[in-house]
Parts: sequence; C-alpha cells; structure tokens
Amino acid sequence: MGPHHMMPRDTDAVRDVTLAEGTSRRVWAFARPYQTTIAVFLAAILVAALLALVPPLVVRAILDDAIPDGDRGLILWLAGLAVLSALADAGLQILQRWCSASIGEGLIADLRIALYAKVQRLPIAFFTRTPTGAITSRLTNDVVGAQSALTSTLGSVVSNVIVLITTLVTMLALEWRLTVLSLVVLPLFIVPAKRVGRRLQSISRQQMTHNATMNTQMTERFNVSGALLVKLFGDERRELDTFSTQADAVRSAGVRAAMLGRVFFVALGLVAAVGTAAIYGLGALLVVDGDITSGTLVALAALVTRVYQPLTGLTNARVDLMTSMVSFERVFEVLDAPEPIVDRPGAVDLVACTGRVTLDSVVFRYPAASASAVATMEQQAIPGADPDRDVLTGMSLDIAPGETVAIVGASGAGKSTMVSLIPRLYDVTSGSVKVDGADVRDLTLTSLRAAIGVVAQDPHLFHTSIADNLRFARPSATESELVEACRAARIHDTIAALPDGYDTVVGERGYRLSGGEKQRLAIARLLLKDPAIMILDEATSHLDNDNEAHVQAALDAALHGRTAIVIAHRLTTVRSADRIAVLDGGRIAEIGTHEELAAANGVYAAQLRAGELLSQPS
Ligand SMILES: Nc1ncnc2c1ncn2[C@@H]1O[C@H](COP(=O)(O)OP(=O)(O)OP(=O)(O)O)[C@@H](O)[C@H]1O
Ligand SMILES: [Mg+2]
Repeated sequence: MGPHHMMPRDTDAVRDVTLAEGTSRRVWAFARPYQTTIAVFLAAILVAALLALVPPLVVRAILDDAIPDGDRGLILWLAGLAVLSALADAGLQILQRWCSASIGEGLIADLRIALYAKVQRLPIAFFTRTPTGAITSRLTNDVVGAQSALTSTLGSVVSNVIVLITTLVTMLALEWRLTVLSLVVLPLFIVPAKRVGRRLQSISRQQMTHNATMNTQMTERFNVSGALLVKLFGDERRELDTFSTQADAVRSAGVRAAMLGRVFFVALGLVAAVGTAAIYGLGALLVVDGDITSGTLVALAALVTRVYQPLTGLTNARVDLMTSMVSFERVFEVLDAPEPIVDRPGAVDLVACTGRVTLDSVVFRYPAASASAVATMEQQAIPGADPDRDVLTGMSLDIAPGETVAIVGASGAGKSTMVSLIPRLYDVTSGSVKVDGADVRDLTLTSLRAAIGVVAQDPHLFHTSIADNLRFARPSATESELVEACRAARIHDTIAALPDGYDTVVGERGYRLSGGEKQRLAIARLLLKDPAIMILDEATSHLDNDNEAHVQAALDAALHGRTAIVIAHRLTTVRSADRIAVLDGGRIAEIGTHEELAAANGVYAAQLRAGELLSQPS
C-alpha cells in the first residue's frame, strides 16, 4: 500500500453531482436582510455606469463642436464636466466597495453563525463520526466561497448588464450599423461559457474536498494526543507524504482552475480585440465616405471596449457563480441535516427533579452510518461501518431518588452506552428511559441536562483558566463558591499551590493536571452544577492509594443526597454503593448488594473470584 492508505475514502463519488434544485432560491433568502444595502449598491452601480458615458461624449463634443467653433467657454465647461464626473465616480466606487464588503462579510458571518448553531444541535452521533477538520472546513473555506457568489458575482452581473445596455443604447444612437456589427461575435461569448462553468464546478468540488481532507489531517494530528501518537507510533515521513498528496491535489486543482479560467478569459479578450479592430477599420471607412464624423468614430471606439468588457465580465460571472454555488450547496447540506435529538413539540420542563431514573425494557443499537446526517462529511470517516447488533437488548432498572447504583460488567458490555441514554445523548431504539416517571423524550433537553451531571472517564477541560472551566457549569458562581466546591472535591489545596491559583490556564495546551486531579476538578465542576442525578464513568486506570483516597472522599461529597450511577472498576466504589447491577449480554444479569451478589454464586461472584471484574485498590 502506498502512502494513501491512512487517508479517508476519497469522495470523488460526490464530485460530479449536479446542483440541487432550488439552491439559488435559498441563496436569495440569505441575501434578504441586506435588501437595502443591495439596493444602494445597485443604484451606485447604475449611476456609475451612466457617468462612464460622459467622457466619450465629452470628447466627441470637443472634437465635433467646440474645436471647430473655437468655443473656449464650451471647452472649459466640457472639461469641467469630465472632472466632475471623475470625482463622482471616485465617490461611487468607494460607496460600492463599502456596500459589497458589508454584504459579503455580513453574509459570511450569517452563514457561519447559522452553521455553528446548526452543528451544535446535531446529535453526538454526528460528532463521533465526523472529523473536526471537515466541520471547520465548512465553516471557513466553504462559507467564504459561498459569499463570493453574492457579492462579486451579483455586483459584476448587475454592473455589466447596466454598462452593456447603456453603452449599446448610446452606440445605437450614434451609429447603428457599426453597433450591430460589433455584436456579431456574441455567440462566441455565450456558447462555451456553460461548458467551462461545468468544468470549473467539478474542479471546485474536488478542491473543497481536498481542502477538507487536509484540514482533517491537521486538526487530528496537531493536537497533543494526535502529535503524541505520531511521535510514538507514527512515521513522520509517511504522515508528510499523505499530507503532501492532498496539498498537491489542491495545488493541481487550483492550477487547472486558474488555467481554464485564464485561457477562456484570454480567448474572449482576443474576440473583443478583433471586434474593436473591425469597428476602427470599418468606422474609418465611414468617416472617409463622410457618413460619420471623426468625433463619432472616436466615441464609438471608446464605447465599443465597454461592450466587450461587460460581455467578458458577464460570461465570467456565470462561470464564477456556478463555482460558488458548489460551496453554497455544501453549506446547505449541513444546514439541512436532520436533528434527531431535539425538544419534541409540547415538551415540558423537568422541575424539582427528585432523581428517580427508570430504564424500561430498553433496546438500543447505535445509529447506522448510512443514516448519517451529512453524507459528504461523515462517510469520509467510516466506509460502510453499520453496527449490526443491539448493544442493549432489553434492559430494565429502577433507581430510587438518592440511591447509588454501581454498574459493573466486562469491557464492551454496554455500560457507557447505557448511561449515555439518560441525558439523551442517544435515543433508545425501543423501550424507554424515564426521569421522575417522565419519558426523557417528553422533557426539554435543557431542563433534563441541567438535572444530570456527568464525570467522564477522561474529563475534558477547555483551554482557559481553572476558574472559567469550573464556571462552565455555573457562570454565576462566586469565588467562594468555587473554593467551597473545590474543597469538597479535595482539589482546592492542589489549585491553591499553583503559581496562578484559580487563574492557571489548563486544558490540552495549558497546565497539565494529572488524571486523578482532573477527575477531582471535574467532580468540583459537578458540585457547582448541583444536579439531582450524577453519573460517573470511573477511570479504569489505577490510582495510587493517596489519590484514590482523595477521589473517594470527593466522590462521597458528590454523591451525598443525589441519585448516583457509578460505572465502577474499583472494589471500594462498588462496596459503598447501595446496589450493584451486573451487565451481561446487553441486559442486567444480576442486581443486589455486594454481600447478596457475592453469596449468590452468579456472574458477579465468579468474576470476583477470578479477579476479572474489579481491581482491588493497590
Ligand atoms: N459510537 C458508537 N458507534 C457504534 N458502536 C459503538 C459506539 N460506541 C460504542 N459502541 C459499541 O457498543 C458496545 C458497548 O460499548 P460501551 O462503550 O458501552 O462499553 P463499556 O461497557 O462502557 O466498556 P468499557 O468498560 O470498556 O468502557 C461495544 O461493542 C462498542 O464497540
Ligand atoms: Mg465505557
């Protein structure tokens, strides 16, 4: 295998799909808030186009009227008019740029905000399948590509149409035969444009895909865990090769797009040059014959370039539009992704949660990748990895308010899966999960999640101060509340000993807390949140005796007065639980106190004897 084997599947398959119906209508929907600015923009373009007619007509008037008459006053007046129109044009150009920048940047911001809001609402299943780089790529590259459809293209289409019409009308008034002649070459502009547009569209799709793949590799490798893995296991040269392949693909697509665009542009320029030359030649003959004045010829010669320029511009705009629609479509694809886990209509708030948790014949299977929300992003990661089995096969469990239940079971038994159903990270396939007797799908997500606190196996901290990380759970927490929570979680002394105390920046790129410290900080964060139900996914790794005692004390503080579900790997935790549930074959195989189960001679007793289930404190 070549250096490509590490790369996600190529998405050439989506490359040549034609644009979805209605894309342009939706683009207009995004432009609507800028109606006024767009109107000003177009008005400025219109006035500028009319002003541009002034200089050729001034020249004609000077040559044909003012000079032969020797009218100095008229000459000065005409020259002043030209200066005024230049001044006005300068002002209009600045106004136009302001408008187009406001529309363009506004649109970029709108699209980004819409995408961010959307991605936030997508289920966790989306994030488990989609590389971060693919997401950021849509929010950066594609958004910028998309807005250019509206700003540069809209501006250029309108200004070119106006310039074309006004110029043609003026030319027709001056000399209709030459004007008609100048339009003979028109089909040469229109016919090839569509084909070139198609080609560029397909190149642009490839470019966006390669960009996303490149982004994915960067975000995956250039974080602490990824970089560590590459250093310890990877081959840096191989990594670079893979990256270069993508970078080269972006380059060659870029060169192809540039060349195709330029060859087309130059060809149009050539046609225009021939057309202009024809006007000069034939016009000069007409002057010799005395049909037109030389002033008219000069004016026509100046005007005719203003026919071919906008024609070239319009043709290019069409090509540009086709390309940037590709980006719009990729943005819409994300905006259209289904949101399976949202508040159902009429969902009610969970108020004054007592903490009863009930699982009723829960069957659960992870959502299939083929049912993915955004195909072009997710399928890059997992080619056809559809789960074909139920992880939970009919699990029932009732946990009373204030009770602590320890969950034990072999690795892969479904412990983490089971607890992820309670805050609705996933929805059950059948059966139901209830909190305080209400199906979690009938409760509002905000109130449900406010009632549940989770400490994960490897808790995540954001790259910010310890205080800010803690306040993520409760933004209004005072300094003394932070300290109180940290004291209860047995982490205050550690934090106080740091040079910057609570202002120490932590997270991947900050001060690195140890595993046990991190878990205690996560417990402090949970205490600040003060949920009725607490879920703890205990770290599998051994903690030393000292840390273990600290974590246990922190836990005792956290569990007090709450319903707790603890995925336990240590005998001390299991022993202190009110009941122990043993997971096997996707259901609860046994449930009872440690003493009951140890005496029962079932799975628990057998595995306890074999030392498979739990680790003794070292
Ligand atoms: N996002 C996912 N998509 C598909 N299958 C998954 C996903 N997460 C877990 N699984 C599968 O579900 C099964 C249960 O996984 P789970 O994480 O619940 O196990 P666990 O009991 O928590 O194990 P451990 O003790 O090792 O943490 C495993 O077979 C796993 O491969
Ligand atoms: Mg687990």
